[in-house]
Amino acid sequence: MQITIAETMDALQEALILPAKNGKRIALVPTMGALHEGHKALIRHAATLADVVIVSIFVNPRQFGPNEDFAKYPRMFEQDVASAQEAGASYIYAPSVDDLYPEGYSTSISVGPLANELCGHFRPGHFDGVATVVSKLLMRTLPHVAVFGEKDYQQLCIIRRVVEDLDIPVEIVGVPTIREADGLALSSRNAYLSAQERAVAPQLYQILAHTGRQLVTADRPAADIIGESLVMLNMHGFKVDYLEMRDSDTLEPLESFAVPARVLV
Ligand code: PAJ
Repeated sequence: MQITIAETMDALQEALILPAKNGKRIALVPTMGALHEGHKALIRHAATLADVVIVSIFVNPRQFGPNEDFAKYPRMFEQDVASAQEAGASYIYAPSVDDLYPEGYSTSISVGPLANELCGHFRPGHFDGVATVVSKLLMRTLPHVAVFGEKDYQQLCIIRRVVEDLDIPVEIVGVPTIREADGLALSSRNAYLSAQERAVAPQLYQILAHTGRQLVTADRPAADIIGESLVMLNMHGFKVDYLEMRDSDTLEPLESFAVPARVLV
């Protein structure tokens, strides 16, 4: 399949005139590049939901904290174009920072309490930055559907919230996490792991999965099960910011196990 690359809003919108005129169903898969099989699963799924799949590649400075990895985040554009195309994308939107946030740009979306919990507690401003860039990408591409990974479960819930609150006319679809054979979730940031850290990393999933099974089957208080899992994670050398069971739909804390629930770490 042929792939069109747009680096500016004007080029993108010109490229999208024809598909829009022909009534094509459009899907957007927002990414920061360094595409792996997790991203490709999103693109493949998007291709089953729409006629045209746009993959955006933009390392968004507004979602990185001052001590985070914006400068060293992996960038590999040529490879990404090939991966996106292979997975079924027909458009790449890869704007510059100036194209997305031109001089004078000042608006930021403030998500509210959900953005300050869980990961948000440890990454102040992160989810407001995500909400802002995703809203802009949605407004620029006007897709019928946008696809996100459950790996970033809080992000997925926040995007659903923003789209509902701001009346953005798009369907948000979540895709289950793609993992290595040993259980480690695929992530562009896995490249930062040393050989030793990489060897331990799958324990995160093993312990999470064990916690989930215990919550469903064991006749013990949820807090005890979570507490034991925390001890196990610490024993393997993880420095845990949080390990919590939450309602899958609302992300409200859950005192005792109830469906639908997610364990988040
Ligand atoms: P990025 O980390 O590049 O991820 C892009 C999309 O791929 C997200 O929806 C993420 O949840 C999904 N994803 C990543 N690894 C995955 C895996 N192993 N399995 C399934 N899905 C996976 O998330 C972002 O970029 C940014 O915050 C973004 C939404 C693009 C806004 O800048």
